[in-house]
Amino acid sequence: MSVVKLAEGVYWVGAIDWNRRLFDALIPLPDGTSYNSYIVTGSEKTTLIDTVDPAMWNELPKHLEQLGIKKVDYVIANHAEQDHSGSLPFILERFPEAKLVCTPRCKDMLIDLLMIPGEKFITVNDKETISLGNRTLEFIHAPWVHWPETMLTYLREDKILFSCDLFGSHLADSDAFVRDERLVYEAAKRYFAEIMMPFRNHIQKHLERLKGYKIDIIAPSHGPMHNKTDFIIQAYHNWVFDEPKNMVVLPYVSMHGSTQKMVEHFVEALAQKGVGVKQFDLTVTDIGKLAMSLVDAATVVVGTPTVLAGPHPNVIPAVFLANALRPKIRFISVIGSYGWGGKTLEVLTSMLPNLKVEILEPVLCKGYPREAAFQALDMLADTIARKHRENNFA
Ligand code: FEO
Repeated sequence: MSVVKLAEGVYWVGAIDWNRRLFDALIPLPDGTSYNSYIVTGSEKTTLIDTVDPAMWNELPKHLEQLGIKKVDYVIANHAEQDHSGSLPFILERFPEAKLVCTPRCKDMLIDLLMIPGEKFITVNDKETISLGNRTLEFIHAPWVHWPETMLTYLREDKILFSCDLFGSHLADSDAFVRDERLVYEAAKRYFAEIMMPFRNHIQKHLERLKGYKIDIIAPSHGPMHNKTDFIIQAYHNWVFDEPKNMVVLPYVSMHGSTQKMVEHFVEALAQKGVGVKQFDLTVTDIGKLAMSLVDAATVVVGTPTVLAGPHPNVIPAVFLANALRPKIRFISVIGSYGWGGKTLEVLTSMLPNLKVEILEPVLCKGYPREAAFQALDMLADTIARKHRENNFA
């Protein structure tokens, strides 16, 4: 994709990665991603904001040449993660006079991660500014969105917020600015769920703080830019502040059909009581979809047979994820079939130290489920519906 103009002298110069399918050797990228880098020219100085993943380094100098950029005075590193910082050594080699601007903590991390010499850096405090002549960049420290060193950069005169990973989406899109809100909402929610959700409390504070800035354009580090900023700010507001919804997430595995039968009965029972359910067969599920469902759910019920005295190994990553992502869930339970005993409930609940949840009576049935198991599942569905009602989860 060619350069994209945000304002006179302000351009997107990043790279679209249409084919990438995995991030951090963990996160599925069904829609690819982009690494957004921006050039801001002032009457006296020129600044590059973030770089691109080193795998796509060639895109960045190509775009700078397209704009006739011969000199870069500052390179802003909002974040030390290598999908944005990884090309810093190349850019500093190409523009040896450039100074690298970042938070003090980011400086330490970039020295550790990329072995950039210490004399290259200018560190900036929260709310500190740098003048480009007729333009001013203000730096807003934003720790834990999603690393501790992160900052955002605000271009005062043009009211553009370069928001780093915040408000971003793993989405390769030929629309530089959001056009299809539904498409971007899904990608941004997936991104929030996988990357930002564990830091909800920090993000709440940052959102409050950003209310003090007039923002016409949000230019994140991934995915399309926002020139209707209310859309993404409101979405984030809902994800971090709102109460959970009247919904159960049900990740499960079944080996010989007994747990599957329990899941089917339980889903029907919940639906009849007006509780929404999202069920995920963990042998085939997209872990990103599961993470997205955890943004809203009030309850998680894990469906697992007992194997080798504990839960099926394929449910372990899902439970680990739920604990690590720290969603808003309030209640948790377990259903499933066992052959002769085990400690499935104890093993699973011991994996959730991060979550302040109430454990609801599990339904663990010996062998194939019969009437007593179905009645117990109905009772569990009743309990969940009542708890959701009592808490006004809508
Ligand atoms: Fe897109 Fe945290 O890097």
